[in-house]
Amino acid sequence: EKGGYEHFMLKEIFEQPKSIHDTLRGRLLVEEGIIKMAGIWDNLERLNQAQKITIIACGTSWHAGLIGEYLIEEFARIPVEVEYASEFRYRNPIISEKDIVIAISQSGETADTMAAIKMAKEKGAFVYGICNVVDSSISRVTDAGSYTHAGPEIGVASTKAFTAQLTVLSLIALKLGKHNGHLSNQEFMRLCTELETIPQKVQEVLESTHEITKEIAKSFVDAQNFLYLGRGYNFPAALEGALKLKEISYIHAEGYPAAEMKHGPIALIDENMPIVIIAPRQGHYDKIVSNVQEIKARKGKVIAVVNKGDTQVASVADYVIEFPETSECFSPIIASVPLQLLAYYIAVYRGANVDQPRNLAKSVTVE
Ligand code: M6R
Repeated sequence: EKGGYEHFMLKEIFEQPKSIHDTLRGRLLVEEGIIKMAGIWDNLERLNQAQKITIIACGTSWHAGLIGEYLIEEFARIPVEVEYASEFRYRNPIISEKDIVIAISQSGETADTMAAIKMAKEKGAFVYGICNVVDSSISRVTDAGSYTHAGPEIGVASTKAFTAQLTVLSLIALKLGKHNGHLSNQEFMRLCTELETIPQKVQEVLESTHEITKEIAKSFVDAQNFLYLGRGYNFPAALEGALKLKEISYIHAEGYPAAEMKHGPIALIDENMPIVIIAPRQGHYDKIVSNVQEIKARKGKVIAVVNKGDTQVASVADYVIEFPETSECFSPIIASVPLQLLAYYIAVYRGANVDQPRNLAKSVTVE
């Protein structure tokens, strides 16, 4: 049932072109120029008139939520906050009937997320669910929702569910923006056309980075720390890359917005510190080039995740992982894939139990 792969995690990483495609299927209709999502369509007015959207989730789903914030604020111009469900539920947050809460959960069974939803409902908010497991508790208790169609995810470390969550959040943001007038039809069409190419680009990145991530992993089996840096849409991708490594390899890793480095973490950098830096050409490219130079000046080991054909960052980096270019807003979907592979191979070479890391469960149904 691992389909010839050594672990479920690797199988699930390689399933992403299909799981993203399945999540888009029947929804992204580029020729007709529409995004079809019943849960959004049926509640369009309520969603677009929300005074604020609060996204609640845990772990990897929380990282997806952070990217969801960037997407919804950019394209639909609705204020978004992202909270850990475990914090939200215990701090009497300001939520009313005018609010929308989006709960993201792969399993649909996470206790903290469930409790946060119940509280939001008691305060009168409309709760929209993004779950992967059909008919899960969270999908049943929410007022409306959209499923990710990633298929069963067995590996404890979330991979294909994460990229499917990003896919659904992209669809939601584009659809809201189109209907509330913040996104021009031309821009909507351009983004939809690009979104349609993502499964193919994920396929390309799997093929082109599989060997190099294995090679890089060999050099870092004995690392004790890792930093992951990114800016804009790729800051949450850096957090997610770090979480993947921690969970399965037990190497301490932290994600940071690249510009925050100078406010503290730069003190950690020496020749023993590997730093994964996500630097696609769009967005804040020139800023990230100077971040890389600052790291190299302190002898940090840079693993640069850059667009194909990059020269500026690539020329100073110690290791280069290339990925196909896309719109900045979709780049975390593609850039996350080699980070999953890197974490996977480091863990495998360390002899760790990748599918069932110590102390972790697939769904956390206790507090
Ligand atoms: O099923 P959920 O999406 O609600 O799970 C949330 C977290 O427990 C989960 O993402 C966890 O962080 C994963 N092990 C990450 O790989």
